[in-house]
Amino acid sequence: MACFLASVFFLVLQSYAAPPELLQAAVTLHTLDLEAGTSANVSGDLPPPGTSKRAPHSIIIGVRKGGTRALLEMLDIHPEVAVAATEVHFFDWDENYAKGFEWYRDLMPYSYPRQITVEKTPGYFTSPLAPERIRAMNSSIKLLLILRDPAERVVSDYTQVYFNRLESHKPVQAIENLLVRNGALNTRYKAIHRSLYDVHMRNWLRHFPLEQIHIVDGDTLIHDPLPELQKVERFLNLPPRIVSSNFYFNQTKGFYCIRSDGRERCLHESKGRPHPAVNSTVLQKLRSYLREHNHSFYRLVKRTFDWQ
Ligand SMILES: *[C@@H]1O[C@H](CO)[C@@H](O)[C@H](O)[C@H]1NC(C)=O
Ligand SMILES: *[C@@H]1O[C@H](CO)[C@@H](O)[C@H](O)[C@H]1NC(C)=O
Ligand SMILES: *[C@@H]1O[C@H](CO)[C@@H](O)[C@H](O)[C@H]1NC(C)=O
Ligand SMILES: *[C@@H]1O[C@H](CO)[C@@H](O)[C@H](O)[C@H]1NC(C)=O
Ligand SMILES: *[C@@H]1O[C@H](CO)[C@@H](O)[C@H](O)[C@H]1NC(C)=O
Repeated sequence: MACFLASVFFLVLQSYAAPPELLQAAVTLHTLDLEAGTSANVSGDLPPPGTSKRAPHSIIIGVRKGGTRALLEMLDIHPEVAVAATEVHFFDWDENYAKGFEWYRDLMPYSYPRQITVEKTPGYFTSPLAPERIRAMNSSIKLLLILRDPAERVVSDYTQVYFNRLESHKPVQAIENLLVRNGALNTRYKAIHRSLYDVHMRNWLRHFPLEQIHIVDGDTLIHDPLPELQKVERFLNLPPRIVSSNFYFNQTKGFYCIRSDGRERCLHESKGRPHPAVNSTVLQKLRSYLREHNHSFYRLVKRTFDWQ
């Protein structure tokens, strides 16, 4: 009996220990971006032996400024995950959609047979056509959605556009001028529309059952990454391989950095851009408008969030 137990234990250990080819995969994939991948034959680089390009098993569908980059980088710690280095924007433009499924697969990373491939395209969540098209591609695909406080998201969305416009020498406006028109909240402002999580979720639930969409709490992920990532591992049926020593808190930055494969990486500087101080009357207007939408969202997803 003892012998039997010991061998069962060994088997379990074996299936949780990364085979050497997977460890090698993780290292290779980090250095391989998709541009290099598609032109591999031109530059003389060959795909790692035993790898192939496959359609994604899971897609991080959004939301923009919800923490999609952080989630993808953190999932990349897992040896059985291969992440796509660029966003695909497959469904945003009909032109790309027409290029077809093979083209899409070609943009995916090289992966080993036991690995699952994950891509992120934050625009999918708010795209009216994405749910239908993704279902047509793979109706059993696992969808990841990362959300944060919808009002904070509006400000973060504004901040990103603000800095992009500054960098390309375009005129910028104060956030209050965009949020308010003729004394009332400007609900046609795109950043507000993108924060109406119930509206977008209803569209996804017309095409996918709720069980197929795992929602990551973006506010929690930033303050305490491990528990949220363990939920994702379970959702993706991955063995638990992400551990607390994969994270360390950087006091200067005020958020967690990642340590894996003997490398340390922190998110890009732009991810920690300071938000503007928003006029409190205007912010109150925004919050009360979003309040009824989160109630309806909570009902849809049968879960509540700790949004302010
Ligand atoms: C490189 O060329 C080989 C042989 O022509 C082909 O089978 C392979 O798919 C090509 N790889 C890439 C990444 O284009
Ligand atoms: C569809 O997605 C599921 C879930 O990740 C995966 O198991 C399956 O292999 C995918 N099918 C195709 C054809 O890629
Ligand atoms: C922490 O962040 C600061 C500021 O970006 C950076 O200079 C420093 O190298 C980081 N430290 C570690 C240990 O990652
Ligand atoms: C905030 O905006 C309101 C009008 O929307 C204005 O009456 C008020 O003075 C502003 N508050 C500050 C501190 O600028
Ligand atoms: C809904 O979201 C708004 C904006 O973030 C927030 O002010 C409000 O408290 C939230 N409501 C609930 C019930 O969480």
